Amino acid sequence: MLKKAVAGKYAVGQFNINNLEWTKAILTTAQENNSPVILGVSEGAGKYMTGFKTVAAMVKAMIEELNITVPVALHLDHGSYDGCYKCIEAGFSSVMFDGSHFPIEENVLKTSELVKTCHDKGISIEAEVGSIGGEEDGVVGAGEIADPNECKKIADLGVDFLAAGIGNIHGKYPENWKGLDFDALAKTKDLIGDLPLVLHGGTGIPAEMIKKAISLGVAKINVNTECQLYFQEATRKYIEAGKDLEGKGFDPRKLLAPGTEAIKVIVKEKMELFGSINKA
Ligand code: 13P
Repeated sequence: MLKKAVAGKYAVGQFNINNLEWTKAILTTAQENNSPVILGVSEGAGKYMTGFKTVAAMVKAMIEELNITVPVALHLDHGSYDGCYKCIEAGFSSVMFDGSHFPIEENVLKTSELVKTCHDKGISIEAEVGSIGGEEDGVVGAGEIADPNECKKIADLGVDFLAAGIGNIHGKYPENWKGLDFDALAKTKDLIGDLPLVLHGGTGIPAEMIKKAISLGVAKINVNTECQLYFQEATRKYIEAGKDLEGKGFDPRKLLAPGTEAIKVIVKEKMELFGSINKA
């Protein structure tokens, strides 16, 4: 999926899921737009959904029941060492091992072991160098710029795609954010060649920066907070308009519908920006 994206100069969106509504909204949007898609699951979201086995079973069944034919990857987002093994066992098609908080030697050791395990089972693996700033499900990073030589070291372990910190952060960007470091991105790209690069913290990055990042080899872009904000706003409007008090407006299927539709809107917008529409 991502090799094709590098060759075609577009990026595939990773949209994080939290529940059935999220999953349904993202899968149907991908199908309606003939776009490949990556469903991201953080360890916290996995726990919330009662475990990775539940998630894998739900996604598998939903793909079948909804007749989803576009390529779908089920990917562990910012996985711990143990989390990766749990997802491999649960039937995920892809994992991210986030060893960025370990000293580089330990990151190398753990990543190479996981690369072997994943590849023996036909699972793809993402690694990270230079932590992504902000906070996501308790994983806190300071928004480092990854050292291109360290990226090369991790890339050479045989990972399938690499997240390199280039000043990107999770969540909303602060007013004084300096923007993405394209020099660092270009240097990393020069060293690692055609290995797909991953841009985390996709929420709120201006469109022009996204396009430039894609032109420099980014082939996977992670979006989480923006879906949450769209869901929140639509749900708030529904309740503030008193719709939950009208007729059967209290029915959870009605209560969650505006938020679910809102996720579809933002996911489609991102797929357009990333250039993945009609690339299934
Ligand atoms: P945002 O929440 O900033 O969109 O980041 C998502 C992400 O990078 C998931 O790994």
